[in-house]
Amino acid sequence: MNSKLTIALSKGRIYKDTVPLLSAMGIQCLDDPETSRKLILDTNHAHIKIVIIRAADVPTYVQYGAADLGVAGKDVLLEHGGQDLYEPLDLRIARCRLMVAGPKDRPAGILDQAPGKRLRIATKYVNCTRDYFARRGIQVEIIKLYGSMELAPLVQLSDLIVDLVDTGNTLKANGLEPIAHMADISSRLVVNKAAMKMKHGLVQDFLQRMEQAVGDKP
Ligand code: ATP
Ligand code: PRP
Repeated sequence: MNSKLTIALSKGRIYKDTVPLLSAMGIQCLDDPETSRKLILDTNHAHIKIVIIRAADVPTYVQYGAADLGVAGKDVLLEHGGQDLYEPLDLRIARCRLMVAGPKDRPAGILDQAPGKRLRIATKYVNCTRDYFARRGIQVEIIKLYGSMELAPLVQLSDLIVDLVDTGNTLKANGLEPIAHMADISSRLVVNKAAMKMKHGLVQDFLQRMEQAVGDKP
């Protein structure tokens, strides 16, 4: 039986919010990804390693078994499709909402425009956006961006955006406001399907301890 566990995390928000949970489980990272250039980090448990990757790549690493476990935002999982992954635990960290937003001074009833005129939506969530509008019978043209979505309507690149909203400060600072709620988002523990079978004991033990850490969190 393979007795090692590899956990995929992204730098920044997810790493910062996952560290206290790992700590509560007795797992300490021996390097700081914010200062180290290393991408494979040792922990105080010789059999547990952490790989540091881009947030949107976590499902792919776990799907292909390059990592046994990972922490990914529900937004990233919805966009990825979640194939070949188990999603057993809501970690209740990095909470926000996926929303349609647009300029405060947008034309009234912008979502009910006449058929034939396609609304332009800027987003990095291309699949979620396509599904959301298709289900409502609204024709849209999706413009894929990689960040700073809030800028797009200000420079007439798009009519609306689909992006994450937490405090709403970024929208407000750019003269935008939320228009429709698409999904509540938090980070999830994801597990490779083969690892769940082949490393059953290790994965189950990890899962149980993480569940306990989430439950104990104030
Ligand atoms: P990268 O830095 O690789 O481009 P990213 O910018 O999506 O990725 P983060 O900003 O760290 O990475 O976001 C990681 C996850 O945190 C997101 O997928 C989402 O689930 C959650 N998240 C993003 N923005 C917020 C926010 N403002 N408040 C709370 N959670 C957020
Ligand atoms: C995220 C998201 C919004 C912002 C929303 O960006 O893309 O821009 O947070 O948060 P708020 O409602 O509290 O203002 P982030 O801060 O992660 O920056 P990024 O564009 O680098 O991902």
